[in-house]
Amino acid sequence: MSLVVDEHRQYLDDKARVAAFRQAIREIVKPGNVVLDLGCGTGILGLLACQAGAARVYAIDGGGMIQLAREICLANGFQDRIIHINGLSTQVDLPERVDVVVADQIGRFGFEAGVFEYFADARERFLKPAGRTIPARVDLYVAPVEHRVMWNQVEFWSHSPAGLNFSPVRPLATNTGYPSTYRRRHLLGKPAVLASLDPSNSPKAILGLQASIVATRKGTLHGIGGWFLAQLSAHVTMSNSPLARHPINRHNVFFPLDRPVKLAKGDQVRVQMSILPTDTLVTWTVEVWGFHGNGRSSKQRIRKARETTHSTFQGMLLCQDDLRKTRPDFIPKLTSWGEARLSVLALCDGQKPLEEIERELYQRHSKLFRSPAEAAKFASEVITSYAL
Ligand SMILES: C[S@@+](CC[C@H](N)C(=O)[O-])C[C@H]1O[C@@H](n2cnc3c(N)ncnc32)[C@H](O)[C@@H]1O
Repeated sequence: MSLVVDEHRQYLDDKARVAAFRQAIREIVKPGNVVLDLGCGTGILGLLACQAGAARVYAIDGGGMIQLAREICLANGFQDRIIHINGLSTQVDLPERVDVVVADQIGRFGFEAGVFEYFADARERFLKPAGRTIPARVDLYVAPVEHRVMWNQVEFWSHSPAGLNFSPVRPLATNTGYPSTYRRRHLLGKPAVLASLDPSNSPKAILGLQASIVATRKGTLHGIGGWFLAQLSAHVTMSNSPLARHPINRHNVFFPLDRPVKLAKGDQVRVQMSILPTDTLVTWTVEVWGFHGNGRSSKQRIRKARETTHSTFQGMLLCQDDLRKTRPDFIPKLTSWGEARLSVLALCDGQKPLEEIERELYQRHSKLFRSPAEAAKFASEVITSYAL
């Protein structure tokens, strides 16, 4: 069984998640509604919509799950109501507008799985004017966290692993948002809502977000924790918060500091963040303010720490050669592999069968391919992505 299928097993096995979607779909989908299940995977959300009385469901998936979704649909007897579409939601069309769009593209911190991009497109092209989305709102939460295990992952690069100096990696390590899991004990203050967003109507760049959180206990601040709460319907929320009564089974995110900061109870942790959802980029800056002096009257706020701005952009493995190719004055020229791809695309003229395209490709680019089978594999990869 492929690991993709096992990933979907985990989605289905997440009882809090399935229960939340089931209840929200029951609340929102009315008998006779037309529903879009965006990123259907196994098709679970569309099946729940059918159970709630949907007349028709368009189930779209851009991955290999679409074939299984068809079979699962058949196994459940909904084949007369669910229409499966293989492709990315942003690249396909629907024959009619829908009453409801439902998807779980929320990610760990509430934005990284394409929720804003896909819902914005779906609202514009697929949703009726009074149509509803599930979720209708996504809140992004942050909290100061003490998490030695996560911190050790960052510091790993400073400790000469294998007896050698790997310190050039550390700047990337402090500019990375890590999947992590928090318990109540990891939190140093009450979580704050950093942003509250309508997934289908949010800016492309979510800039200048701020939260100020008072430490409720002393401890060591290692970083900022992030997670989400999604309002699926009027009465149903779904969250991976460590404080949720029934959290779903999904990681949180750890945004590290440069250096740990000792916090006293009452200190203030100020977080600034900006997010570019489509590029999955986050920048964060953290300041800690404490008090100077002991007596109540002599207490004066002082800044205990100010971090340089972190950015997941700085944490990316960017190759200088690739960066050079993104400059506006760069004059691109195809490599021999680019030429081969161009050949395949040009040979797809709506007349030639695949075997002829493969043969022609091998003849034109015999230096690239060690055998006709290799050329055929290359042609198939291009054709499955771009041909009808
Ligand atoms: C997080 S899984 C959710 C699957 C299913 N909806 C569920 O709730 O169990 C996301 C699925 O959406 C698909 N996907 C992601 N973005 C998509 C898009 N823009 N269009 C179509 N499919 C997409 C992926 O291939 C994957 O199967």
